[in-house]
Amino acid sequence: MKSLQYLNKYFLKYKWRFLLGIIFTIVSNYFGVQMPIYFKNAIDQLQVNATDTQPNDILWLAFQLGGFYMLLSLAKGFFLFLMRQMIIVMSRFIEFDLKNEIYTHYQTLDQGFFKRNSTGDLMNRISEDVGLVRMYLGPGIMYIINLIIAFTLIVTQMIRISPSLSFFVLIPLPIMSILIYRVSSRMNAMSTLVQKEQSLLSTLAQETFSGIRIIKAYNREKETEEKLGESAENYKKQSMRLVLVNAFFIPTIMFLIGISILIAVYYGGILSFTGPTKERISIGSIVAFIMFVNSLTWPFASLGWVSSIIQRASASQKRINEFLETKSNIQNTVTAEFEFKGSVSFKQVSFQYPITDITAVSNVSFQVNKGETLAIVGHTGSGKSTISALLMRQYDPQYGEILIDEKPLSSINLHALRNQTGIVPQDVFLFSDTIRENLQFGVNDRESSEEELIAACEMTHVYHNIQGFPNGFDTILGERGVNLSGGQKQRISIARALLKKPKLLILDDCLSAVDTETEEIILRNLEKGKEDRTTIIISHRISTIRNATKIIVLNHGEVIESGTHETLISQKGTYFDMYEQQLKQEKN
Ligand SMILES: Nc1ncnc2c1ncn2[C@@H]1O[C@H](COP(=O)(O)OP(=O)(O)O)[C@@H](O)[C@H]1O
Ligand SMILES: [Mg+2]
Repeated sequence: MKSLQYLNKYFLKYKWRFLLGIIFTIVSNYFGVQMPIYFKNAIDQLQVNATDTQPNDILWLAFQLGGFYMLLSLAKGFFLFLMRQMIIVMSRFIEFDLKNEIYTHYQTLDQGFFKRNSTGDLMNRISEDVGLVRMYLGPGIMYIINLIIAFTLIVTQMIRISPSLSFFVLIPLPIMSILIYRVSSRMNAMSTLVQKEQSLLSTLAQETFSGIRIIKAYNREKETEEKLGESAENYKKQSMRLVLVNAFFIPTIMFLIGISILIAVYYGGILSFTGPTKERISIGSIVAFIMFVNSLTWPFASLGWVSSIIQRASASQKRINEFLETKSNIQNTVTAEFEFKGSVSFKQVSFQYPITDITAVSNVSFQVNKGETLAIVGHTGSGKSTISALLMRQYDPQYGEILIDEKPLSSINLHALRNQTGIVPQDVFLFSDTIRENLQFGVNDRESSEEELIAACEMTHVYHNIQGFPNGFDTILGERGVNLSGGQKQRISIARALLKKPKLLILDDCLSAVDTETEEIILRNLEKGKEDRTTIIISHRISTIRNATKIIVLNHGEVIESGTHETLISQKGTYFDMYEQQLKQEKN
């Protein structure tokens, strides 16, 4: 319950709407209460004048009664409509705000957070959980307000007619409340399980779709389906248990309401015919009581449902709060403008990933300046990508210093640095949008001339491919660029980085799916603009980095050799061995 307090700020934001909602609820219920009172008066009038009532009078009375009843119903319904307009619409506004808040917060969080939490989980917070919270904000709150107001108004009227009859008629209500409380806490425990199963199911489904190529390639459709089926079965089982309890719930409440009506008729009858004069009530009063009890039915029946909504919402809000309270390990506190001049250096940098014990980068030092190219080689897992992640400040190293233009990385406006950097990550990511939009993604105003686009694509030797597509630059890519080959994706993703005209260019093993000939062409093209920028090329292939100004060889996170291609070859160390091996492979 405590977690829901987080939402109070939103109630405050929409306080007028909320207040109006309460007022409309009161008005609507006021009209509702008038109906039984009007019936009572009409019947009593008939009873008093029973002896000299003409059939025509009765007809006239019935006509009046019907007309008035209709008017009251209309008035009640109209204000009910207004009440929903206020409160339900408020809940939609808050839902919108909350989704935005969570989404905005997600974007501030660091890489570590996204590695720890699955996409399914992140999505669930924003859709499933916010949805449940909305149920509390809208229908939940509305029914509670309605119950309180209806109960107060109705019971006041009942007591005015007959305190003793009210007492007996209302006896089943506390029993009902206890019952509702008991059952709803059981339902909540169950619904938590249902939520959990649902989360598992959606994560599984999500993963299946993003991994569909592998699943098909390995003929694992059947197994995947079984796994998904199993999860769906568990979800169904839990849901059915919940439905069963739910199904018993409403009939039980109806039974208790029935008892209330029985008491109204029986005890009311006794009071009306044989009660002491002071407590004697009219037949009309008995009718009014039956109507009152009936109008209490729905508000009370909704109580169980509402309490389960509140419990679920508070569980959901708790999970949302957990995310909202997560602070990014990397905060960009600097807002000063920053113009990158071109020098990058690592000084005895060591880094360990938060969740593993592997030291991914250990005591690494290097310096690279404007116009130079630093190459990092090493086998897979040697820490190459980690260096680029550290440089982009996706993580902060535990030891050592990273200097940009001789200033600590943490003292530099991260946005400004990232703005001037073109990075091509190892795992290419393209959005399901046009090639043009993908290329312009890093350009700040997203406006590049046709010439610029062509130049960038020619640099990366992909323009002829794009020309071959019927829609050229306006070809829409499938999800993650599925309608392109691996090499095409890599080349488009390099073009995207070049189009930014970056002062710092980082290429992380991004020519791995490109044949050596094409690689040669691209590398030669990249030579052209290199005076104006600092380049870092990461590769496990020596052919890619031969011409670099400086080469460092990584092994298990440590720099084991460094120098130019020529000096490294003459050293006849690891670099030389790798070179020999790769030459042999190429010849085969
Ligand atoms: N997000 C991560 N969390 C934990 N360990 C990681 C993560 N990314 C990489 N590693 C580990 O860090 C080491 C270096 O990885 P990486 O820098 O990707 O190597 P390379 O790019 O040279 O192939 C590896 O042992 C890898 O298992
Ligand atoms: Mg890598």
